[in-house]
Amino acid sequence: MEPSTQKLIHTFGALADLGQEIAGTGDFTEMVRTSMHLLLGTLALRRGAVIECSGPGPLRCVAIWGLADQSLSGFQIDDSEMESFRCGEITESLVKNTSSTNVFLTRHRDKLAHEGIELVVPMIVRGEVTGLVLLGGKASGEEFSNDDFETIRAMVRHIGVGIHTHRLLEQLAQRAEENRKLYDDLRAIYRDTVKAFAAAIDIKDKYTQGHSERVGKYSEIIAREMGWSEEEVEGIQIAGYLHDIGKLIVDRDIINAPYHIDAKNSSELNRHPNAGYEILAPIRHPYADIPLMAKHHHERLDGRGYPDGLTDEQIPMGAKIVSLADSFDAMTTDRPYRRRRSFEDVVVDLRENSGKQFDGKVVAAFARAILKEVKGDTKDRRIVKMLGKSYLEGEQVETLLTDLITDLEGDYSRQGAKAQSL
Ligand SMILES: [Fe+2]
Repeated sequence: MEPSTQKLIHTFGALADLGQEIAGTGDFTEMVRTSMHLLLGTLALRRGAVIECSGPGPLRCVAIWGLADQSLSGFQIDDSEMESFRCGEITESLVKNTSSTNVFLTRHRDKLAHEGIELVVPMIVRGEVTGLVLLGGKASGEEFSNDDFETIRAMVRHIGVGIHTHRLLEQLAQRAEENRKLYDDLRAIYRDTVKAFAAAIDIKDKYTQGHSERVGKYSEIIAREMGWSEEEVEGIQIAGYLHDIGKLIVDRDIINAPYHIDAKNSSELNRHPNAGYEILAPIRHPYADIPLMAKHHHERLDGRGYPDGLTDEQIPMGAKIVSLADSFDAMTTDRPYRRRRSFEDVVVDLRENSGKQFDGKVVAAFARAILKEVKGDTKDRRIVKMLGKSYLEGEQVETLLTDLITDLEGDYSRQGAKAQSL
């Protein structure tokens, strides 16, 4: 094989390797270093460097070989120098070409020659100078041939594209990060607004201070125990905070009546789920179904709830969760006409009403979450904190919860077996 053919094959091989290196997803600096070694190896050059231009100012050395690390410090490139690189021929880039009109070379000729640099090739991508490749002379002492210039042009172009792509990816990642921050800020603003609304609802009802916030937290705990995704859990927490937003349109005296209200006032109060839906439906919430959860939080599985008298499967699961959280908070907090109920009493109520008012699966999940806190299996004890430390302290609490869970879970497996045998 002729030496020129051999050289051609070698160059093709080097270009193929370079392509792979540039397309790889590995470390950027490593990619540039390897690319430069390939270039130096292909032409048997003694030294070289790849420097990156990102606007005016000092150039950043990305890879260096056969030169002292500090030897390229202090190089700057301004707009006129960039311009002279954009239009110059490669022979204009030879350091020893004293007739070259290249402004950068004219200014730095002595320093470049002193470091043994013979050729400065710009990496131009889409009309922009991305950086410069500085090359020393050939180890053989020969001059660069036209073939060498061709190889250099091709390989330098490859490296330039690699740097350019890397920059684009960096910009893209930066923008994605900015967008993510913006999105997080918007979500935080939304959550703060929701909390402000919850506080406004609770202030209107002087006997149930903090009710909406607690319903939000109980709902979140139940949903998480039921295996909902973090996104869904966040959504139901918001629904809990806002479930009574419709009360904002109900007369304050009816909400705060210190006794059981009459039928007329009761129907006025019962408007609040539909009113809540009307307030929430036009808003574009970042979570699904929040208006529906507010609308149906007073529905019952047996169809005796309101506003629509829906039955079991017609009620959205989120509304079932909020409904239980709402009732649980009502039972476990003092009201103007009664003291809160004992935990034992509450468990009796939950057991009796599972399948009628509440979904047994939801009750079982809540009971499991409470039991975990009682047994100390969880890091923070949020339910205990909301109920007050002494409320869940009795010896029988664990047994009550375990029995409730066993009974309710037994019910589903029986229901499941029945459904399968049908
Ligand atoms: Fe309500």
